[in-house]
Amino acid sequence: STYLIVMAGGIGSRFWPFSRTHHPKQFHDVLGTGRSMLQLTVDRFAGVCPPENVFVVTNRDYTDLVHEHLPELPLDRILGEPIGRNTAPCIAYASYRIAKRDPQATIIVTPADHAVLREDEFRRLIGVAVDAAQASDVLITLGIQPSRPDTGYGYIQYMDDQSLPGGQLHKVKTFTEKPNLELARMFVESGDFLWNSGLFVWRAEVIIAAFRHYLSDIAEVFEEGAAMLGTPQEEAFISQAYSRCRNISIDYGIMEKADNVYVLPADFGWSDVGTWDSLHRIGQRDENENVVSGDVLLYDTSGCVIKTPPERLVVVQGLEDYIVAEYDNVLLICKRSEEQRVKDFVADVKAKK
Ligand code: GDD
Ligand code: MG
Repeated sequence: STYLIVMAGGIGSRFWPFSRTHHPKQFHDVLGTGRSMLQLTVDRFAGVCPPENVFVVTNRDYTDLVHEHLPELPLDRILGEPIGRNTAPCIAYASYRIAKRDPQATIIVTPADHAVLREDEFRRLIGVAVDAAQASDVLITLGIQPSRPDTGYGYIQYMDDQSLPGGQLHKVKTFTEKPNLELARMFVESGDFLWNSGLFVWRAEVIIAAFRHYLSDIAEVFEEGAAMLGTPQEEAFISQAYSRCRNISIDYGIMEKADNVYVLPADFGWSDVGTWDSLHRIGQRDENENVVSGDVLLYDTSGCVIKTPPERLVVVQGLEDYIVAEYDNVLLICKRSEEQRVKDFVADVKAKK
């Protein structure tokens, strides 16, 4: 049957000061819907995958938070990592655990911090990918039409003339994770590339074969300890297993290298809400193009993203195209066009402490 791996261990550092080490983006109600990104992620798969097949992988520091956000998820399906080793070990851990329970499993892997505006279309496309993964030994990624040369994404070029039956999934020719700006510009201008959404679909045995082939050191670690997965020894095994895994993403480790990768072009109002500006693009805008959440009074203000704690009354006058964001005693006021500097601010703040 179909399983879901929710990757919820990242820090989301570009979304500072909202995203913080002790409370990263996936645990925030970024979109102002009353549900956190993590809750929205799990909600989105209702009907796609049985609730008893949902696994969340996160840092052990966040297992309580995951439990708070998803009280219906039993603790033995919250897989805690002792250290962050990026997405390859995260996916390996959950895949070996799932394969032990169900060797025939089909697995959907999803980030925990993305927004999807058209959920029906999303579920339809996931269904197409699941059917294809069950019928062929392929690694599937959902691809998004790029809108700007963002260097934070993987870029996928596919072959028009090599598709799976049905014609919707195309064989990937090149997968380039996080190119430099020059390359990203070329990719976008050529009109030939899609962004990797970070949503993957495959059978357990197919991804495990890929680990054996491309990340054999990681595969070995989990194969040695496979007998302990799902038993009371799991936690102790994982503690030492992670220190033996290198830090590598699934994109660099497998997707760039494997020759059985297929992409399903997808258009469902996707955003990884990676930055404040992306929130401005997808959020609910008022008549002056402001995206506001919090107890805020605005005068002569336009083009701003304002997100402040509900208990704080905020009055803003005369501000144009700014980010005003407060969380947990940190207040950021920054031009929207300068938001790529947020990572420098975070580094300076850390150095100051
Ligand atoms: N459990 C766990 N452990 N989860 C992790 C870890 C980890 O060590 N590191 C990251 N994650 C989670 C994040 O919380 C997020 O939900 C997801 O895995 C992806 O990690 P990111 O760190 O956000 O990756 P990225 O945004 O730089 O790049 C990926 O996503 C892009 C689309 O948003 C890549 O797949 C790119 O190719 C892709 O374009
Ligand atoms: Mg991301």
